[in-house]
Formats: sequence, C-alpha cells, structure tokens
Amino acid sequence: MIYITRKERFNAAHKLFRAEWTEQKNLEIFGKCSNPNWHGHNYELFVTVKGEPNKETGFVIDLKFLSKLIKEKVIDKLDHKNINMDVDFMHGRMASTEILAVAIWEQIALPIKSQGCELHCVKLFETENNFVEYFG
Ligand code: NI
Repeated sequence: MIYITRKERFNAAHKLFRAEWTEQKNLEIFGKCSNPNWHGHNYELFVTVKGEPNKETGFVIDLKFLSKLIKEKVIDKLDHKNINMDVDFMHGRMASTEILAVAIWEQIALPIKSQGCELHCVKLFETENNFVEYFG
C-alpha cells in the first residue's frame, strides 16, 4: 500500500459562535474565534490517498485528477470566502477545523474511490500550531 498526498492552501473567514449563547459565553468557549465581526485563517490542506500503483502508469492516483478535484470541490468554494455564510457544504454546521475536515472528506471521498484507490486522510491546519486529521 502506498500513500500519496496533495497539499493545497486557502484563505477563509469564519467565526465560532452559538446564537443562543451570550457574547460573553461565546468568548469564554471559543476565544478569539468568536469575534462577532469575523476573522480569517490561512488554512493548509493535506489530502492523502492510498492504493496500489497502477501497473501501466505507476500511479496510485493521477495527481492532475486529484488536484482538479480538490480545486473544484473544495478550494474554489472556500478560498477568500466566509465559511459560515458562503460555503454550501458548511451551511448549518459549526465552522470549526474539525467539522470542516469532515465536510471536505465528504466532498471528495467518492470521486477518489472511482479512481480505484481510497481517501486515507484529510489533514487541515488552521494555524501553524493547530491541525486536525480525519480518517473517515
Ligand atoms: Ni478562527
């Protein structure tokens, strides 16, 4: 089994808040990420696919296919957008790194499977120090 990873980047705004909580409670729980007037992060996304190399091409997955898929299903929808308001697959969900990693998995897992390999991990850095890994 071989694991291959494509790295992408996007910049996006969000806030973490629950409308039914007071501003004070949101600040206590979510810290700076609860700022009412939004803020942004420079996200880094690592998509890891696993499989056996194709006998003819030597590829686990065609990286042109993978990068186009991630661009169309994920990056174009998130880059320079407001995650809470602009992104269809995040409507009604908390804009946390955890939930975003799961949502990104949902956008790309099936098309990757159609290539005869499997999505192994979505790793998403929100900051240099904080990242999430989702294995499905
Ligand atoms: Ni934040």
